[in-house]
Amino acid sequence: MTMVAVREVTRTYGKGATATAALRGVSFSVGEGHLVALRGRSGSGKTTLLNIVGGLDTPDSGSVRVAGKDVTGMPERERMRLRRESVAFIFQSFGLIPVLSAAENVGIPLRITGAAPRLREERVQLMLDIVGLREHARQRPGELSGGQQQRVAIARALAGRPQLLLADEPTGQLDSETAKQIMRLLRAVVLSEGVTALVATHDPSLIDIADSVLELEDGKIKPSLSTEREVALPSATPLPPGRRAGHPRRPAPPAPLAQPASPVTPAADPARHAGHISTTLHDRGIVGVEYDP
Ligand SMILES: Nc1ncnc2c1ncn2[C@@H]1O[C@H](COP(=O)(O)OP(=O)(O)OP(=O)(O)O)[C@@H](O)[C@H]1O
Ligand SMILES: [Mg+2]
Repeated sequence: MTMVAVREVTRTYGKGATATAALRGVSFSVGEGHLVALRGRSGSGKTTLLNIVGGLDTPDSGSVRVAGKDVTGMPERERMRLRRESVAFIFQSFGLIPVLSAAENVGIPLRITGAAPRLREERVQLMLDIVGLREHARQRPGELSGGQQQRVAIARALAGRPQLLLADEPTGQLDSETAKQIMRLLRAVVLSEGVTALVATHDPSLIDIADSVLELEDGKIKPSLSTEREVALPSATPLPPGRRAGHPRRPAPPAPLAQPASPVTPAADPARHAGHISTTLHDRGIVGVEYDP
């Protein structure tokens, strides 16, 4: 199944003489369970593209489908639900809430979706185990190393069982050895959780283990660098009960699409509330998650 289908997406910031065309007709698709590295120079449009795929921003023209749903055409309320239930983000700056412990941070998506406390605790425990931080569950982000903080962010991103994981330079603040470990962890959890991931990065350690690589150049996909590669996968990766089918053994590269652009419904980006956690969304991404105990 195709998890992400981007067709002829354009996005220009500003108007007139100061207008910047960040995306100039981007088309590609990503199959379910694939890990795709998105690379390109600073300013090539990576963050803009991730924001549009995740429904945080809307394109000027073109369409985005995630899990078969037309993100660009859907009403804002539905797009909010998609962001809450199906898409998770990981940022370069980790984005953890400083006053919450590692375990509480990981539990945020489960609070937002209203999971029962016992199920929430079990899932948080499992996610902390997966990222190797069981012993650090009670520590706050300031008491963890950068690599550990990003592992908490990965655990949090996956806690709510998203279908799509979007990561924007997740190792940009880490040393190269820690970055390598984080990328390997990402590779492993994408497999074990059956999630699809699009990761903007310059990091060679991810480029080497991604199923395929997309390169953005001046707001366009460079087709020649969409490479397919055989990834060494464990022969049996057990999926937790209720998960979707496993990872395809021979991932295909993101396929260029040449279909006409669909109409776009622009929408404002509101704050969303659930229980006592409120996540403030702005057009450049999730900039603040407030916790009101
Ligand atoms: N909010 C904004 N207002 C105006 N221009 C913007 C805005 N956000 C991005 N741009 C411009 O759009 C282009 C693409 O920016 P984008 O942040 O998507 O690039 P990037 O590939 O993520 O870069 P980097 O590797 O530095 O993070 C750049 O020329 C940038 O200056
Ligand atoms: Mg960026």
